[in-house]
Amino acid sequence: MISISKEDLQSMECLGSGLFGTVYRKDANTAFKIYHTQLYDPYGKMVENPALRFCQARLDRLKHRGRNLQYTDVWQDKIYMDHKFAGLSFPCYDGDLLFQLMHQPYDVKMRLAKEYVRNSKELTSHGIYPMDYKLNNVMTNAGEVKILDLDDFHTKVPIVPTPFHKSACVFGLHETLLSFFEEYDYASYGIAVRNELMRKRTYAEGNYRAIEQYLSSKEEPIKFLFIDSESDIKTLQNILTEEDYQVIYTFPRMILRDDDFLLLIDHYSTFDISLYDILFLCYRDLYLNNFHMTEGYELHEKQLIKIK
Ligand SMILES: Nc1ncnc2c1ncn2[C@@H]1O[C@H](COP(=O)(O)OP(=O)(O)O)[C@@H](O)[C@H]1O
Ligand SMILES: [Mg+2]
Repeated sequence: MISISKEDLQSMECLGSGLFGTVYRKDANTAFKIYHTQLYDPYGKMVENPALRFCQARLDRLKHRGRNLQYTDVWQDKIYMDHKFAGLSFPCYDGDLLFQLMHQPYDVKMRLAKEYVRNSKELTSHGIYPMDYKLNNVMTNAGEVKILDLDDFHTKVPIVPTPFHKSACVFGLHETLLSFFEEYDYASYGIAVRNELMRKRTYAEGNYRAIEQYLSSKEEPIKFLFIDSESDIKTLQNILTEEDYQVIYTFPRMILRDDDFLLLIDHYSTFDISLYDILFLCYRDLYLNNFHMTEGYELHEKQLIKIK
């Protein structure tokens, strides 16, 4: 247990701040996370910070589960101010948030993304299910990926991890990777559909496989086949029996509602065609470029045309 005063904090460098707390550099190796006393709830009402509702058993459980982790650090020590629980200490990291690394070269980003998935898998296999994956909760230390913000023990270490916790954790990771590769920029209307497809895939294939497929699809030669409402279904079915394409439905204007995405998925699944994605036509080239080694084809009525 560490006891500090408000004055001690004033002499420390502030490393960052989030919804729950502010992180200070105690020394080269140690960071102090001090919780805000109050915060806004989702309705804009000021409430006591739930992280301050000290719960020894939950903290202990997190520490216990984290004791053999190779890639991620859980809290080290409790911090008290004025005899009250005020925060936790962590190893201090020297790098950048993932958010600040979005414009790194593709190879660097891919390495970081893979490390992120590896670290997340390690957490899950130790019964730790982070519910708050985002670009601001991941940073580097000596070039290696570190997952942050695991101390919200009210939500992040469910006693019995349910399928909900497992998939919420993996969805969060998937969404964070999408935004890391800036795919949200052009797929904003596709979020609902991506989540729906992702939900189906995670339930069907186990937690991480769909994410790993997503990452490897960005590296492996992959054939995208763009179709639209005019594409001939029979021709499409024939093409798919002969070769492996990932089918992407494009539509010309941004007027679809979320339900329409789901209807499209269902519509094609009745023909045994599973859509890989749904996209606005104007983003097609951007999309193709976001995958490393891709070929692009288009099915125009009955005609297959190579576009990349
Ligand atoms: N161990 C650490 N070393 C260096 N900086 C950190 C560390 N942990 C957090 N930070 C910085 O502080 C910010 C807020 O920390 P975080 O744990 O995410 O708090 P919150 O729960 O409020 O979101 C992070 O986005 C990061 O910039
Ligand atoms: Mg945070």
